[in-house]
Parts: sequence; C-alpha cells; structure tokens
Amino acid sequence: MASPNVLSLAQAISFPLSGKTVRNRVYRTALSEYSGSYDENNIENCGKPLPRYIELHKEMAAGGAGLICFGNIPVHRDHMENINNAILDPNNAWNAVDAFRPAIAAAMSQGAICLPQLTFPGRQVPDYVNKHPKSASDVQLGPSMDKTYGQPTPLSRDEIKDLVNRFAWAAHTVVKAGADGIVLHAAHGYGFNQFLSPETNKRTDEYGGSLENRARFLLEVVAAIKANLPVAKYVIGVKLNCHDFSEGGTSFAEQCVVLKWLEDAGVDFFDVSGGTYATPAWRGNIQKELTDRPIQRYYGSYFIEWAQEMKKVLSRAVIGTTGGWRDAHRMAEAVREGKIDMCGLGRPLRENPFFVSEILEGKVRTSNL
Ligand SMILES: Cc1cc2nc3c(=O)[nH]c(=O)nc-3n(C[C@H](O)[C@H](O)[C@H](O)COP(=O)(O)O)c2cc1C
Repeated sequence: MASPNVLSLAQAISFPLSGKTVRNRVYRTALSEYSGSYDENNIENCGKPLPRYIELHKEMAAGGAGLICFGNIPVHRDHMENINNAILDPNNAWNAVDAFRPAIAAAMSQGAICLPQLTFPGRQVPDYVNKHPKSASDVQLGPSMDKTYGQPTPLSRDEIKDLVNRFAWAAHTVVKAGADGIVLHAAHGYGFNQFLSPETNKRTDEYGGSLENRARFLLEVVAAIKANLPVAKYVIGVKLNCHDFSEGGTSFAEQCVVLKWLEDAGVDFFDVSGGTYATPAWRGNIQKELTDRPIQRYYGSYFIEWAQEMKKVLSRAVIGTTGGWRDAHRMAEAVREGKIDMCGLGRPLRENPFFVSEILEGKVRTSNL
C-alpha cells in the first residue's frame, strides 16, 4: 500500500504501442555500469558482461523501480563510450544472447520491465580509450569532464549504414535475451546528438543541413529496429535532450519537432535530459541556467520546465524526465499534475538502490544526495 503523498507514483502506466505495463511511475534511467570485460591489448576480449553486471541489476530489481534501463551499451566494439562497457557487437566471439540474458533476467526478476540502452558515442570518447573517434563531422570536442578527446573523422555513408544495421541487430539480440525493448541514447552529446546538432554536424550530404537531414540517422535506426521488432510487442525508447544548453547546439524548438517525428515513427517512451560533455546540464551544475530557475528550485528536476512542454507535443508516447529528482512528494506532484508521466532516477539509486520502494512505502521522502 503506497503512502498517500506518493499515490500518483504508485500507479501503473502502459506503453500504448507495445502494451507493456510498468507497475509504477519511477524508472532507473540509464547509468553506465562499467561491468564488462576490458583488455587494452585485445579488442576481442572487451565488452563481455561480468558477474557484477548481473549483481547490479539484481540489486536494482529489488529496489522497486518499475522500469530499469541498462546504461550505455556500445553497438561497435571499436567505439566504446568508456573502458569496461558491456558491448553488443556481432563480431564478439561469445554468444551475445547468452551473455546478456542473466543480467536482463535479474533486472526483471521482481516485476520491472527492462530496456537496455544502445549507444554510439561518436566523438565523445576519452582519447585514452579511442584516439580516432568517428562522428557526423570533424568537429573536435575540447577538454571537458576532466578529459581530452581525439579529432573525429566523419562517418562515411557506408559506415552510417553499418551502424544502422548494428543498432537493429543489438535491439533484436537483447529482446531475444528477454528484454522488453531498448532505449537509444540520443542525448548528452553522444553520436545521435552529434548528428542532430548543427554545432557538430557540418555534413553536406543527406545526413546534414536541414533538421530532417540531421535527424535522418536516428530515424533510420528507429525504422531498422522496427523492421525487426514488432512495436506492438516491444518498446522503442529514446533518451533525448530538451536542448543542448550551448549556442549552436540543438534547440528546444527543433528537439520538439524531432520528438514528434520519433513518436510518429513508433517510439513509445521518451526520457528527457539535456546538455553535452561540453555543457553537462544533466549533472545539474549549470548554475545560472538551471538551479536558479523557480520551477527547478521547486521540483528539483533540472528539465521539468521543458519536459512538460514536450509532453504537450506528444499524442501517445509515455514521457519522463531524469535529473535532479530528490524529493518524492515533488515527483508525485509532477506526475499527479500531469506535467510528465514518469520520473527517472540516476544517482539517487546508486546512493540507495532501495530508494523507490522506500518512498512508495512512505519510509523516506528525500534522497540523501
Ligand atoms: C556515473 C554515471 C554514469 C552515467 N551513465 C549514463 C548512461 O550510460 N546513459 C545515459 O543516458 N546517461 C548516463 N548518465 C546520466 C544519468 O542517466 C542521468 O541523466 C544523470 O545522472 C542525472 O540524473 P540524476 O540527477 O537522477 O542522477 C550517467 C551519470 C552518471 C553519474
């Protein structure tokens, strides 16, 4: 029985296309687990899920979140987001379905639905991991997040096609391993975001220029996934920035258009975030632009102001936002008022994996963070 102040968070919600039901309104957003094998001298030995990967998700399942997203899973082993990523690459020597099945089963063991996050990091990979990243264009990321980054090479059309096929293969693989669908990482300045942003996409072919062209890669991936997975059964989710908080980056107006295109293409779930490595708004440390805003002061959420507007653009998909939620009563209020459908949690569940069940039972109200 949920505590009266958080009743709205305890309500189930269904994804309209897939029909999947989430038992409550709180999800564990994607958070890199860094629990895959790593061998700096041999790519063949990188990316196999380790026992810790299973343990983490077992713990997360017991904590009560209705939906559990896995963190970054690169779809190309030459393009890791960081060392120790679990990787889904058709060239890996092991059976990918068998390798991912135990962690997915662990995440789903207490009734949560599970959406692993698929990623192409593009230029946003530290140079100690990859000195030769590929991106939409050759725009290098300056030092940020205490790291330095290599000069990227623009992806050729064939390489884009290969990536599209890899995303489709990876999505199919995790579903065969038991997952309820996938989430694409199109936020935080990673690969899809680099295509969407005029700051990092200087292409002159059909993948650059107009918004339609900059969104093409992401939409092609959604279409390819959909061709393999019936959306009437599986969830396609997208983590999307409300905007990049940088001059020349993705704008709120354009992201709203992309959001609608994605919904029309079959996306059933959006996790709204913001910022890139150069402007890491998702960490909540862009003081002037975020923490001073009255709505953020009240709810804690960094992006509620934009997510609530994005919800109005949608006609069907479920939308949540992650970043800054620390007070269960404020989370419940935002859901009760219909500002958003769900609330995503990252660091609070690292600090206390049982935060969701504790807030629903009324044992705690705020995260210790
Ligand atoms: C250690 C760490 C790893 C993260 N890994 C991912 C990731 O794999 N994918 C992703 O979309 N966001 C990732 N994020 C961002 C979080 O999902 C989330 O957007 C951010 O932590 C803000 O939410 P919070 O205030 O609830 O922590 C990561 C954040 C941290 C701190």
